[in-house]
Amino acid sequence: MEMLKILFCLTLCCFGVIAGEVMASLKNINMTNYEKVSLPYIAEQNKTVDVNVSMYILNIGNLNTQEMTFEVEMYFGMKWKDPRLAFKEYNNASYALVTGETAYDNIWVPDLFIRNMKHVESSTFLKDLSGVMIYPDGIVSLSSRIRVVAHCEMDLLMFPLDSQSCNLMIESYLYHTDVMKMYWAENPVVIDDRRDGRKAEIDTWNGFTLEEVKTTEDSYIYPINKLEFKNMIATFVLKREPQYYILRGFIPSSLLVCLTWASFWLPTSSFPARITLVVTSFLASIVLYQGSTLHAHQMTVMQVFLFGNIAFILLTLLEFLLAVTADKKREKELEQVNAFINDLLKSEDIQIKEREENTTIYTNNNINNNSKENETSVDLRTAMKEKSMLDADNEQKVNRVDRKARFLVPFVYCIYVGVFVAVILQHR
Ligand SMILES: *[C@@H]1O[C@H](CO)[C@@H](O)[C@H](O)[C@H]1NC(C)=O
Ligand SMILES: *[C@@H]1O[C@H](CO)[C@@H](O)[C@H](O)[C@H]1NC(C)=O
Ligand SMILES: *[C@@H]1O[C@H](CO)[C@@H](O)[C@H](O)[C@H]1NC(C)=O
Ligand SMILES: *[C@@H]1O[C@H](CO)[C@@H](O)[C@H](O)[C@H]1NC(C)=O
Ligand SMILES: *[C@@H]1O[C@H](CO)[C@@H](O)[C@H](O)[C@H]1NC(C)=O
Ligand SMILES: *[C@@H]1O[C@H](CO)[C@@H](O)[C@H](O)[C@H]1NC(C)=O
Ligand SMILES: *[C@@H]1O[C@H](CO)[C@@H](O)[C@H](O)[C@H]1NC(C)=O
Repeated sequence: MEMLKILFCLTLCCFGVIAGEVMASLKNINMTNYEKVSLPYIAEQNKTVDVNVSMYILNIGNLNTQEMTFEVEMYFGMKWKDPRLAFKEYNNASYALVTGETAYDNIWVPDLFIRNMKHVESSTFLKDLSGVMIYPDGIVSLSSRIRVVAHCEMDLLMFPLDSQSCNLMIESYLYHTDVMKMYWAENPVVIDDRRDGRKAEIDTWNGFTLEEVKTTEDSYIYPINKLEFKNMIATFVLKREPQYYILRGFIPSSLLVCLTWASFWLPTSSFPARITLVVTSFLASIVLYQGSTLHAHQMTVMQVFLFGNIAFILLTLLEFLLAVTADKKREKELEQVNAFINDLLKSEDIQIKEREENTTIYTNNNINNNSKENETSVDLRTAMKEKSMLDADNEQKVNRVDRKARFLVPFVYCIYVGVFVAVILQHR
């Protein structure tokens, strides 16, 4: 370990010489009486260490609606003054560079952590990606590349037209405000604009737009030991880009509803065609609906819309049943009219026969102007009219219910979609 450190210092010194700048290492700093375990101002009463906190955001997003987490990848920076490390008097160098590992082993470092973290990973690529810069006046600046998965309380009602505000809460585990205070640095949160070497829009991330970044400070009293701790809160407001969900959920689901309307143009007699069409769409809609379920405890706008679409598909099925019933009724009516007409024709035949008989018998009597005969003719005429109407219906082969549904159902659906869009736009 010691060997490694010397090697490392040698490398640094060489680098310093090559770069033409005077650089120091921990070896150049007088650490005779340095105690890593004690705070920089342990000797001075009432003096607190002021730590400046900053973040350089490399990546943000990955909102997990199931676990209510989000992810941030960043260079986390801390800056504080440790006068014990000042090396002005021993060395003319402009700064000393120390790797993170060496620093953690040799100097005092604030014990900050992210309070709402689910887990934090510090990046290691061959070696731990962190480092410390020490300035001649004792100012220490630490930077570490970390990936944080943190808890974020999300309100998913407006999903996928929502925007979420997620916090990172930074806190010290041990040092209360009497010994250590935290502040946000001058530029507390800087957003990286060179994601993969190409210049990127600073506020667009995978599926999200970073609308706003806020930094606030807060303090609270830990109820168990009644000590006050400071916490630094960085708030990221992320707005979801809904295109993906519109293309993947809203449009396919609406198309399925439109598809079922083809059923109105199919004859009522094609039971298999109509039933299959509606039931397949129904099943596909159920799958879409299940795919839109984000979290067990909250209903989203998308779910409500897809649920409405399923209701419309069921309405088409209901319409089919009504059409079949109407068909049955019409057949019965037709049968009745036919029977009636047959009866009338039969009775007329009898009358005519009788009349013929009567005329043959009573040749002088004129019985043609029989009122009864007149009555029967009228009945016959209306019956014939009704029959021809029903026959016309039959010829068109279009159900009365279907004919109405063709216009009524799409119209009602358009109103549904219109109202939905209006409500959404109002809430946004
Ligand atoms: C380092 O500091 C101690 C006192 O803190 C002092 O006695 C010693 O001479 C210093 N060493 C150098 C090399 O300056
Ligand atoms: C430290 O603060 C306390 C109360 O705040 C005060 O009584 C005391 O004199 C202070 N000590 C110094 C060295 O300033
Ligand atoms: C911390 O930041 C403040 C401004 O926000 C600045 O005045 C102060 O010098 C900084 N402290 C350190 C140690 O950089
Ligand atoms: C620092 O530089 C001054 C002149 O700039 C020089 O006199 C002094 O010896 C140097 N000190 C060390 C430790 O190199
Ligand atoms: C035919 O004549 C008979 C006997 O006269 C009579 O009872 C009957 O009502 C007549 N029928 C018609 C249709 O007038
Ligand atoms: C009865 O019918 C004859 C022709 O068949 C007609 O000349 C006569 O006016 C009719 N009588 C009545 C009362 O309608
Ligand atoms: C036959 O019916 C018509 C109306 O349908 C009526 O005007 C006429 O008087 C009737 N004739 C007889 C003989 O009842």
